[in-house]
Amino acid sequence: MRRHKLLIALTMFGLTWAGIVRAEDQPIEQQLVDAMNKVFGVHPGFRANHAKGIVVEGRFKASPEAAGLSRAVLFNGSLIPATMRFSDSTGIPNIPDAAGDANPHGMAIKFHLPDGSDTDMVINSLKFFPVATGVDFRDLLLALAASPPETPKPTKFEQFVASHPSVPAAFATVSTPDSFADEEYYGLNAFVFVNKAGARQAVRYQMMPERVVHLAAADAAKQPPNFLMDELPERLKRGPVTFHLRAQLAAAGDSTKDPTMPWPNDRKVVELGVLTIDKAVPNSAEVEKKLLFLPGQLTDGIEESDDPLIGIRSGAYALSFSRRNP
Ligand code: HEM
Repeated sequence: MRRHKLLIALTMFGLTWAGIVRAEDQPIEQQLVDAMNKVFGVHPGFRANHAKGIVVEGRFKASPEAAGLSRAVLFNGSLIPATMRFSDSTGIPNIPDAAGDANPHGMAIKFHLPDGSDTDMVINSLKFFPVATGVDFRDLLLALAASPPETPKPTKFEQFVASHPSVPAAFATVSTPDSFADEEYYGLNAFVFVNKAGARQAVRYQMMPERVVHLAAADAAKQPPNFLMDELPERLKRGPVTFHLRAQLAAAGDSTKDPTMPWPNDRKVVELGVLTIDKAVPNSAEVEKKLLFLPGQLTDGIEESDDPLIGIRSGAYALSFSRRNP
């Protein structure tokens, strides 16, 4: 049984982790969600991370090339309805959209397959992840929590950053977009495509907009607090928004389990299809509560790579969901 399924099962039976394990032995998924609560505060009913978001609907149509890489129904060329949620980083439900901490912005996608199942993608605007392991991510969050303003220098966070150069490097890859529609989003973790012949290919997702527009810091500072959440529904009233889903293909020797290491730019990139967003849902705040996007919720033809972060993420998301829907 995968760990996130175990977490869901335990939660459904009303068992709390505190009741079955000692605090210091708690699973890393719980330590991560607790660390997020420490940094961002506890906000009942909201996600532990990416708390502020907006839900939209649309459809995906695969390119002819996609089916050669993966036998997933998602890529057979039929029209697949999809539900998306765009979001700001942090677990702070009223964070201003243009705040620096609202980067990276997120995009979560649920593709609704003809047999009634879903396959999910949960991606964001970082070009690579700041840390490689769940333990390092927990320690990054705890270092942040221990470094409020006015803390004597060097703060715990500054010390963590000094020993993990991928942290400032990753955050240097993001800035505020002028619209959720004008941002590019990356899968960061590698997944494995399996085609009809059984051939396996490791990939990383890229979700590319028609154009990328980032704001200069001075312009971002002038934006109203909900400018991204307000802009998307207005834009959709004027017409659909499209993205191109692409797969960057790993070559022999590329690490599939270290999301701090982008693959070289000359790796082949294959267009998988077009995601069209048609409309905002009118009751987004209600709908988002019942939505659970899981990086490990996959259909046949798409598999997790050997990156342990994918399973840890799924477990943490399921736990966050159970806490926000008690
Ligand atoms: C160990 C690493 C990570 C942990 C522990 C983590 C944890 C979480 C948690 C607890 C949530 C809230 C889930 C919910 O309540 O439904 C969340 C949301 C989210 N995370 Fe992560 N995350 C990690 C890495 C990533 C990465 C690598 C990406 C992007 C590639 C990402 C993108 C997102 C997005 C877009 C959401 C919002 C999902 C939604 O709209 O429902 N996270 N994350």
